[in-house]
Amino acid sequence: MPVGTAGTVKGMYPEQVRDLGADILLGNTYHLMLRPGAERVARLGGLHELMRWPHPILTDSGGFQVMSLAGLRKMSEKGVTFRSHIDGAYHELTPERSVEIQGLLGADIQMQLDECVRLPASKDDIARALRLSLRWAERSKKAFEAQPKGRALFGIVQGGDDPELRMESARGLVDIDFPGYSIGGLAVGEPQDVMLAMLDVVTPILPVDRPRYLMGVGTPDDMIESVARGVDMFDCVMPTRAGRHAQAFTRFGRINLKNARHADDPRPLDEESDCPAARDYSRAYLHHLVRCDEMLGSMLLTWVNLAYYQNLMAGIRTAIAERRLGAFKAEVKEGWARGDI
Ligand code: GUN
Repeated sequence: MPVGTAGTVKGMYPEQVRDLGADILLGNTYHLMLRPGAERVARLGGLHELMRWPHPILTDSGGFQVMSLAGLRKMSEKGVTFRSHIDGAYHELTPERSVEIQGLLGADIQMQLDECVRLPASKDDIARALRLSLRWAERSKKAFEAQPKGRALFGIVQGGDDPELRMESARGLVDIDFPGYSIGGLAVGEPQDVMLAMLDVVTPILPVDRPRYLMGVGTPDDMIESVARGVDMFDCVMPTRAGRHAQAFTRFGRINLKNARHADDPRPLDEESDCPAARDYSRAYLHHLVRCDEMLGSMLLTWVNLAYYQNLMAGIRTAIAERRLGAFKAEVKEGWARGDI
């Protein structure tokens, strides 16, 4: 899912995002409740209408963004109070209010409010947060009953880097029963092998007929490895944010267009790509644009990266259907290892 935090996939037209094959976008409760405000979005016809995206939208619940962005947070059984990173105003987010906001936005897939602890953390802290998140999962589900049919609410697995606590969280959520399960609290600075080990304990507990969504992940390698462990959905700012920082994702790995070696290079990033930004513009031109901080540099590289991510996931889906995910994974990794020639 391309990330459209504030009602826009930064640097891209919605039509262009759609043309890349994206079926669903991510939006953020935290940002949209602060600006332009959930009630205002609802008055304007909902987020789909406002941003001209007549396709599914998934929203995060806000808890994670409160932890990473807001000032002066106070967590209690009831919810979390925090100060806006924009104007310092106080706000409260409870499981009920988070679901209400996501409903006002009109999100098709909504997330329960959860608490994600920063790692490293003590086992006691991780356990306390996951048990609070389980209680919030029940409250979120109850609040969600007020919404129109056709929408879904996902529970979020927490449990830090502790296998036992991960299992406790996953089992607790399965008992509550959700139409899909998110896996949170990962890719927060731990090594990749720790993240994959947590997936290895969690995915066997989650029902096979419900989607599993790994939140905030990740690199192309993280995604391939996670799919191999049973994950279905991802969101990450990486392709869009990296695009605004002169980084291109390609079949040959990551390329930094700021590097002086591109200044005289007339070749495109990938002449075989079906993305015009990767196929038709020279590396020399992209280098020039990013050197001059031109808007178009960010736009073209965001396009390159979202196309790469969408194509990678499409390739993974085809490989699974053809029962050759292992071979596909090896081919893709060989390309990254060969590097940019
Ligand atoms: N995005 C990335 N990780 C998380 C998480 O643990 N919880 C929520 N709500 N969103 C996330």
